[in-house]
Amino acid sequence: MPRRVMLLSMLLLLSPSWFCDTGSAQLDGAQPSKIAVVGAGIGGTATAHFLRQHFGPEVQIDVFEKEEVGGRLATVTVNHNDYESGGSIIHSLNLHMQDFVKQLGLKYRRSVAGKTAVFDGDAVVLEETDWYLLDLFGLWWRYGISFLRLQMWVEEIMEKFMRIYKYQAHGYAFSSVEELLASLGGSGFINMTQRPLSDSLVELGVSQRFIDEIIAPIMRVNYNQNVSIPAFVGAVSLAGAQTNLWAVEGGNKLVCSGLLKLANANLLQAQVTSISPLHTGETVQFQLGFTTDGETHSEAAYDVVVLATPLQDGADSGVRFHGFSPPLAPLPGAYQHTVATVVHGYLNTSFFGFPDPRLFPFASVLTMDAPELFFNSAASVCPVNISAGFRRKQPQEAGVYKVFSPRPLSKAQLKTLFRSYYSVQLTEWLAYPEYSSGQGLPPVELHPNLYYLNGIEWAGSAMEMSSVAAKNIALLAYHRWNRQADMVDQKDLMHKIKTEL
Ligand SMILES: *[C@@H]1O[C@H](CO)[C@@H](O)[C@H](O)[C@H]1NC(C)=O
Ligand SMILES: *[C@@H]1O[C@H](CO)[C@@H](O)[C@H](O)[C@H]1NC(C)=O
Ligand SMILES: *[C@@H]1O[C@H](CO)[C@@H](O)[C@H](O)[C@H]1NC(C)=O
Ligand SMILES: *[C@@H]1O[C@H](CO)[C@@H](O)[C@H](O)[C@H]1NC(C)=O
Repeated sequence: MPRRVMLLSMLLLLSPSWFCDTGSAQLDGAQPSKIAVVGAGIGGTATAHFLRQHFGPEVQIDVFEKEEVGGRLATVTVNHNDYESGGSIIHSLNLHMQDFVKQLGLKYRRSVAGKTAVFDGDAVVLEETDWYLLDLFGLWWRYGISFLRLQMWVEEIMEKFMRIYKYQAHGYAFSSVEELLASLGGSGFINMTQRPLSDSLVELGVSQRFIDEIIAPIMRVNYNQNVSIPAFVGAVSLAGAQTNLWAVEGGNKLVCSGLLKLANANLLQAQVTSISPLHTGETVQFQLGFTTDGETHSEAAYDVVVLATPLQDGADSGVRFHGFSPPLAPLPGAYQHTVATVVHGYLNTSFFGFPDPRLFPFASVLTMDAPELFFNSAASVCPVNISAGFRRKQPQEAGVYKVFSPRPLSKAQLKTLFRSYYSVQLTEWLAYPEYSSGQGLPPVELHPNLYYLNGIEWAGSAMEMSSVAAKNIALLAYHRWNRQADMVDQKDLMHKIKTEL
C-alpha cells in the first residue's frame, strides 16, 4: 500500500522533540518544580516521558503505582516462560508505541503464524484462511462487498486518526477528548462515539451475516462486549484486526519500565488515597495522601498532577478528592470485568468438532455471540521471548493457551475446553470501559493543573490511544502552565499546519 507508506514516512520526518525548544516560561518565568503522575501503566509512564520532554530536566516527576509497573500490560509465568496476560497486540500504524520501542532499544517480537477460526457453539463456521483476523480476499466469496466496504471505512477512519501525530508533532493540544476527536474527524467522529457499531455497519451496507460471524467475534475477543459497542471504539479494534500486528520481545510491559527510566522519574510504590488543593496566594498546588506498606504519608506541593488510572466508580482507584470547590463530580461509567485464563494442557478439539487433534488446524478460536458460550476466545499463545528455533505446539501436544471469558471458568468448563491440563492461571482484569452508547466522554481537565488521562478509553481503549492521550496531556499541561492559549483547541489545524510549513 504505497499511500500508507508515504503517509508514514512523512510523519516520521517530523521529529517528536521538535516542540521542546520553543522556550518555556510562565508569565513570571517559573517552571513547575514537582509533578505527580498517578498510575504506571502505559498511559502514566508515557505521560512521565512526554512531561520530561516538554518541561525539561529540572522538574521532579514522581510516579505513584500501587501494584506493578505496566498496569494492564502484564505477564504470567508458565513452565519457565512468560506470556502476556493483558494487552498483547500493537498495530503497525501505532506511531507512539513504535517510537517508544525504538528509543528504548527494545526489539519487536516475531509473530508466529497460526490460523484462526470462528466457532458458533456447535461448529466452526469460518476456517482455513491465513488471516490474523481478517484477510481481504480469502473471505470475499462468503461476504461479497461487505468486506470491501468495511475495509474502506476502517481505512478512512485510520487515515483521519493519523492526523493526530502531525498535530502533536507541531505541539497542538486539546482540552477534551471531544475537541481532540473533532479536530481529527469533525462531528462524524464524535457521532461515532455515541452510536452503536452495528448501526454504522448496517448503514454502510455490511451484511448481518458478516456482522454476526466476523465483527461480533472480534468485539468479543477485544472488548468482551457485543456489536452495540460505539462505532469509534469498534473501528479502532477492527483496524487492529488486520495484519501487521506486533508485540515487544520480552513483554509489552517493558515499554512502561523503560519509559520510567527514560523519563528519569521517581517511582513510588504507593496507593494514592487523596488529592487536595493547597492555596497559597494566587497559586494552587496539590497535596497527595498515599499509603505504602500500610503506612500513611502525604506529600505536598505538586504543581501539576496527572491521574493515569481509571477513576470511575467501581474501578477501585482508591483516590479521593478533598477540598475542591466546587467538588469534583464523580465520573459515570464502569469498567468491564474480563478474565484471562492461561492454561497449560491439551485442548479438547472434540469440543470444536475435531475428534482427532492432529486434524485441528487452528491456533485460535473466536466465538460468536451465543448464549451458551461461556468463553470469548481460546488461543494457543507464544512466550514473550521467542527463540530462533521456536515452533508453535501442535494441538495433539500439551501447549499454553489463553482463554478470555466474562467470568472465571468453572472446573466443568475447563474440562470441556481441555482434555487435561497441568496448570491454570487466572487474571481478572477491569480491562476496558463497559461501553454503552449514548454516554458522554469523561473530562481531561478536572481542575486547573489536574488532568485525567483515562477518559480517552471511552473513545477507544488501546495502548496507542493511551499514548496519544499521554502526549496530549503533556502538551496541554505545558501550554496551560505557560499560558499559550493559541496552542490549545485550535480549529482547522490541517490548514494551519500547511501554512506553518
Ligand atoms: C449520527 O449520525 C447518523 C447519520 O449518519 C444519525 O442518524 C445519528 O442520529 C447521529 N447520532 C448522533 C448521536 O448524533
Ligand atoms: C449487547 O449487550 C447489551 C448489554 O449487555 C444489551 O443491552 C444489547 O441488547 C446487546 N446488543 C446486541 C445487538 O446483542
Ligand atoms: C527476553 O527478552 C528481553 C528483551 O529483549 C531480555 O531482556 C530478556 O533477557 C529475555 N529473557 C530471556 C529469558 O531470554
Ligand atoms: C471434550 O468435548 C466433547 C464434545 O463436546 C465432550 O463430550 C467431552 O466431555 C469433552 N471433554 C473431554 C475431557 O473430552
